[in-house]
Amino acid sequence: TRVAVIFGGISVEHEVSVISALQAVQNMNSEKYEITPIYISKDRKWYTGDVLLDIENYKDLKKLMQEAQPVRMQRTADSRVIVEKDPRPRFGKAELAEVDVAFPVIHGTFGEDGVLQGYLELLGLPYVGCDVISSGAGMDKVLMKRIYRDAQLPILDFVTFYSSQWNDDNTGWLNQIEESIGYPVIVKPANLGSSVGISKAENREELEEAIDLAQRFAQKLVVEPMVSNMTEVNCSVVGDPSEVEASVCEQVLGTDEFLSYEDKYTGGGKDGGSSKGMESTNRVIPAEIGEGKTAEVQRLAKAAFQTLGASGVARIDFIIDENSGTVYINEINTIPGSLSFYLWEPAGRPYPELIDRLIQLALK
Ligand code: DAL
Ligand code: MG
Repeated sequence: TRVAVIFGGISVEHEVSVISALQAVQNMNSEKYEITPIYISKDRKWYTGDVLLDIENYKDLKKLMQEAQPVRMQRTADSRVIVEKDPRPRFGKAELAEVDVAFPVIHGTFGEDGVLQGYLELLGLPYVGCDVISSGAGMDKVLMKRIYRDAQLPILDFVTFYSSQWNDDNTGWLNQIEESIGYPVIVKPANLGSSVGISKAENREELEEAIDLAQRFAQKLVVEPMVSNMTEVNCSVVGDPSEVEASVCEQVLGTDEFLSYEDKYTGGGKDGGSSKGMESTNRVIPAEIGEGKTAEVQRLAKAAFQTLGASGVARIDFIIDENSGTVYINEINTIPGSLSFYLWEPAGRPYPELIDRLIQLALK
C-alpha cells in the first residue's frame, strides 16, 4: 500500500506534528507500506524527499526546504492520485509517486479541523481518521460541547462569544460570565490545541487579561468554570462510528492546574528537548482512578467518539471533579499527539499494529 504521510502544517502545533509524524513513519511496517512523506511548511508549501525523515534536519528549516523536493498532490485524468513536481516541468517526468491512501498527522487548524480532509475528499483519496464534519466539529470546542450536550454527555458549562461581540459589550459579557459561571474560570480560544492561548482567571481583572490573550489566537472564545480539585484523565478510542474500542486511561499530572504548552511537549521546560515530544509529559498509565471510574471514562470516550461520527484514532480528555465525583468530557482530539500510540501498547497492541488498523479503517 502506498501511503502519503502528510505533516507539518500551518498551525501553532507545527513542531508537535513533525514529531508525531516521524514517530508514525518509524513504526510503519516497511514491507507493507511504501511511504511518501509530505511536509507542509509554515508558509503552506508542500515538499517531499527522504531529507524529511530525520528530525535533526528540522533544526535548519531553510536548508531542509532547499534539499526537499517541492510537490503538489494531483488527481490525474485516469483517476490516480499522484505526487508531482511543483512547478511541473514542461518536458520530462513530473510524477514522483502514486498514492493509495493519505495519512494526515497534522494537529490543529487546517490539519485536524476538516480543511485537509476536504482537500483529500476532493482528490478522491481515502485517508486515515475523521471525515470533514467530525474533524471540524471536534476542533471547535463550542460546536463539540453543543453536540455532546445534545447527546446528554457530561460537559462543563460555558459562555461563548466572538471578539467583535466582546468589543461591543465588554461589561455585558463580564457580567454574564460572573453570573452564569463565577470564578475561577478558564478562557480558551475555541479552536486551538496544545493549550495554546489558554489561561485561568480568578477575578475580573484577570478575566479581561485572559480574554485579551485568547483573542490573539482566535475570533471565537469559550469560557468555562475551572474545576479546582480535579483529576485529568485521557482515554483513546480506535475505530469508526460502527465499531469502537477504548484504550487504557492515562492520568495527566500537570504542574499547574491545567497543562501548559511547555508541560505537554517539552517536559515542563525541565529538559527542554521538544524532540522528546509527548514522551516527557508526566503521566500515569493506567490512571489510578479505580475500576468504576475507569469503566465510566471508557464508556464516555466511546460515546464521545461515536456521537461525533469520528474515525481512526482519537484521544478524549476528561476532567474528574474530585469534590462531586463527576466525570466531564473536556475535549476530543481527532489527531492526538503521538497518535496516542502509548495508550495502546499496554493492551498488547504495538504501534505498528495500531498503524495497520488505522490504514485498514481508511481503506474499509
Ligand atoms: N493537540 C495535541 C497534539 C493533543 O492534544 O494531543
Ligand atoms: Mg487538544
